Amino acid sequence: MLRKGGSNWVEGDRFFDRETELEALEERVRDGIHTLLTAQRRMGKTSLVRELLKRIAEGKEFETVFVDLEAAADPADAIAEICVQARPLSGVWGRIKGSFANIIREAGEHFEELAVADMKVKLRAGIDAGNWPQRGDAVFAALASGDRPVVLAIDELPILVNRLLKDDRGRITPEGKRAADAFLGWLRKNGQNHRGRVSMILSGSVGLEPLLEQAGLSAHANIYSAHDLKPWSEETATSCLEALAKSYRISLPEEMRRDMCRRLRCCIPHHVQMFFDKLHDHLRRADRQEASPEDVEWVYVHEMLGVRGQADLQHYEGRLKTILGVTGYPIALEILTTTAVNSGFDGDAMDRYRAYYSAFNAQDGEGVPSVADILHVLQHDGYLERQDDGYRFVSGLLEDWWRSRYSENFVAVVEAEPHGGGAGR
Ligand SMILES: Nc1ncnc2c1ncn2[C@@H]1O[C@H](COP(=O)(O)OP(=O)(O)O)[C@@H](O)[C@H]1O
Ligand SMILES: [Mg+2]
Repeated sequence: MLRKGGSNWVEGDRFFDRETELEALEERVRDGIHTLLTAQRRMGKTSLVRELLKRIAEGKEFETVFVDLEAAADPADAIAEICVQARPLSGVWGRIKGSFANIIREAGEHFEELAVADMKVKLRAGIDAGNWPQRGDAVFAALASGDRPVVLAIDELPILVNRLLKDDRGRITPEGKRAADAFLGWLRKNGQNHRGRVSMILSGSVGLEPLLEQAGLSAHANIYSAHDLKPWSEETATSCLEALAKSYRISLPEEMRRDMCRRLRCCIPHHVQMFFDKLHDHLRRADRQEASPEDVEWVYVHEMLGVRGQADLQHYEGRLKTILGVTGYPIALEILTTTAVNSGFDGDAMDRYRAYYSAFNAQDGEGVPSVADILHVLQHDGYLERQDDGYRFVSGLLEDWWRSRYSENFVAVVEAEPHGGGAGR
């Protein structure tokens, strides 16, 4: 019985398929290979890693630690987070506490009774801009010293790297580069020193590789072997819909399941789940158990693309701002809207935008990323894919949503006012 996924990561009876990936990742762990798991947001990276750790932990051969760096502002935060997440590993935790003996003594005898968040604050206070590399080395040494090797999963690492690299306008600064260099260099060194004892699985919804490329820090990624998590195939997605329909006692014939997957074009697990959930709600409201093709059509247009669907898709827009900053973001919006309106972005459009923005940059757009850079990020981040001599949206859902949201009154800058106006409309 497969239960619905909701919007947070899933494991156990909410987790579907991904058997090939679980097997491949487990094999890497056994071979002492560090992994960089990359994929577009909502593809199921966190779920895959959580499920993997759950299964590995059941095997008793390895210990597992899961760390989420979404909220970490600097290396010290990251290290404090690793510390507290290692608590369940008693030997390791003992050693970590040993390396923070002074701080723990100051905190008094109730340290162990503190809430995790407070414990982290105390440890964090003992880590600063000067000592974090030594503190961090000690934590890795502790992880490596346990009875069993440790699988250390670090989720959303690229968000921290992005934060380190860029100023609040989204531009890479020299200090940012030094900070990211120091942090990634430290992580790489520890990954190498403790290979076989600590296996890392890094993951995140912002591509680490293009970030490092932009910053000239690509060498730091060379100890990780990349694993690109793909969307579900139409086969897998229709089987998932079949399993969900069975669990929730809905009749959803194969024709309709396929129609759902074709509309999505790219079967991102979260979108498959969302489609099912909205269809389920729709049928419940109508007090029916049997879905018709009209139901599928109605739910797609009114729920997936409609006001209520938007919250999930707005996420795609917000993340773009994070990755590209306030200077690159408007250009990306422009490119995506042109692509949605014309059902593609061809070589011609590319040339016109290149000319437009390079003229704009020559005037007063210093530090604005180039159209090529932005296309690179949009492609790497799963928004666009190459098609013939240009690009198109990977996801049919995102394309339809983008079109319905932005196409009204849209006039491409390259057509409106050549070389004037400004890149941000
Ligand atoms: N293997 C899976 N089985 C079922 N649902 C999944 C699976 N992977 C992802 N999902 C769906 O996608 C959503 C997002 O998954 P998550 O792991 O948080 O993605 P990511 O970390 O890549 O952003 C989940 O809430 C769930 O609905
Ligand atoms: Mg995630």
